Amino acid sequence: MLMAISGLALAACAAPDDTRPDAQTEAQKAADSVEAPALGDLSWTKGAMVAAANPAAVEAGLEVMRNGGNAIDAAIAVHAVLGLVEPESSGLGGGAFMVYYDRAKDEITVFDGREVAPAAATPDYFVKDGKVMGFIEAWQSGHSVGVPGQVALYKTAHDAAGTGDWAANFAPAIRLAENGFKVGEKLHEALASERLRAVINLDDNPVTSAYFYPDGEPLPVGYVRTNPDYAATLKAIAAEGPSAFYKGEIAESIVAATNAAPDGGMMTLEDLSNYTVKVRPALCGTLPTGYRICSAPPPSSGGIAQNEIMGLYDAMKPADNVRVTEDYFLKIFVDAQRLAYADRDYYVADADKVTVPSDDLINPVYIRERAKQAFAPDGHATPGDPGVILGRSPMIGMWGQDQTEHAPGTTHVSIIDTDGNAVSMTATVESAFGSSRMTHGFLLNNQLTDFSRAPTAGGLPVANAPGSGKRPRSSMSPTLVFDEAGDLFMVTGSPGGNSIIAYVAKTLVGVLETGLTAQEAINLPNIIARGDTVAVEIDREGGPEAAEALRTMGYSVEERTGEISGLHVIVVRDDGLEGGADPRREGVAKALE
Ligand code: DON
Repeated sequence: MLMAISGLALAACAAPDDTRPDAQTEAQKAADSVEAPALGDLSWTKGAMVAAANPAAVEAGLEVMRNGGNAIDAAIAVHAVLGLVEPESSGLGGGAFMVYYDRAKDEITVFDGREVAPAAATPDYFVKDGKVMGFIEAWQSGHSVGVPGQVALYKTAHDAAGTGDWAANFAPAIRLAENGFKVGEKLHEALASERLRAVINLDDNPVTSAYFYPDGEPLPVGYVRTNPDYAATLKAIAAEGPSAFYKGEIAESIVAATNAAPDGGMMTLEDLSNYTVKVRPALCGTLPTGYRICSAPPPSSGGIAQNEIMGLYDAMKPADNVRVTEDYFLKIFVDAQRLAYADRDYYVADADKVTVPSDDLINPVYIRERAKQAFAPDGHATPGDPGVILGRSPMIGMWGQDQTEHAPGTTHVSIIDTDGNAVSMTATVESAFGSSRMTHGFLLNNQLTDFSRAPTAGGLPVANAPGSGKRPRSSMSPTLVFDEAGDLFMVTGSPGGNSIIAYVAKTLVGVLETGLTAQEAINLPNIIARGDTVAVEIDREGGPEAAEALRTMGYSVEERTGEISGLHVIVVRDDGLEGGADPRREGVAKALE
């Protein structure tokens, strides 16, 4: 890690000299208004690739592309298989953010398929008998289930830009659900985990226990599991579109499962039929190095956090003529995270419902000043005030601080197709196996625990408190990077709860700043600097040394093992596509032959 990070000295770059408060916005506008570079011959010669968390899912994406589908068709096919083989992570009962690059149009679009709170939800949705529900109680309750967005996202994205046959995109998953898939180690281990079994209801509920614990035992590795209900659900969606899911019998069963004990929710059929995917512009920032980082805007904090971390990192880099130790680059990666996490924790929520200063937080003027606020290693990083720094009204004092918690349950898909279009999609049911409620072959999410369960803090409302029709804040960072010439350079993303931000930033620093390959960057130990402690993954090469170096610098270090990143990365090189898959999960990156 230290050696890798030391290479950053070579990439040090002068900070931009435009210090006007609106500089970023203007620079961005200028960049956006410049006509896209004439692509001339649009032919793409770099090939196509899929990187995702399961080999069968990757094959489904390649099959669809072989039959003429593009990156969006492949993403649907990949994800429909993931929902079957990796149900602990994501599925039809969950949601996703998809960032799509259309190369011919030189356009980036975000499809926000985030789950939505029922219309009846109020800020005290997680307050029971006058007390805020604990995380585990809330996780297994019906109040955690948001209206799923995944199926609507498939259709909205396909209508916008898919080139393959809608129904054909579900064929590989239907086949696998009918013929059976081989249970992998990750699913088996999740089902066998005593720690997880002690807190979730999967083996208590008759539907889930019959499916996941036949004969009372967790599905063994290699067991051929069929899921005819899932096949039937996909066939209905393939034939009728999302109305098969958001109306009628499946919708009724989603409502019934959500509103069942324990602590039934308040979902209605109208909540389901009213669900809409939000099609949003990507949140993009241009770094002084010329790279443009585009990711998901609020309600995800991914786009803000990735741009802020990379901007802060750049601002903290030494000038070319200043010599620093190798450890310095580790320190600035940690400090950049601490500052960005403090801002993200405080400000980011559903921008359709509350004011989120997205552009201000990634404004280079704010970032340069914020970089000077790096706290002492034993200090407590507090949020910055872009209002004050940019000469407007103060923003600190608007909100109370929220404390959202997470447990594993998400997946990331990176795809580039034969025309150079790209998809970066992170999909989730939130925690492992979502809310443990299953119907028609899929699990329902517990995404609403991504809200702050406490509606207020210190007498102030929390920005990310629940609300009617509100989307909970996410950390998902499906990211596309473009080079100085405006060409697609990198597709990245990961699961991991609020550590997603650190995991994905690691790949950006590794590839963009240090010149690592996709796989080398993924293999770096994970270092998560949120709050007062720096978590360092010590069961990876370089981890123990990084932990020791940070301790020596005065940081409070928590040594961790068993990190749950699931990074899937594609980098566009001169001679073709370079992929990487996270060894912490079961995925692969595979090129279309
Ligand atoms: O949207 C989010 O940020 C979370 N629901 C993601 C949860 C997650 O990544 C769990 N982990 N593997």
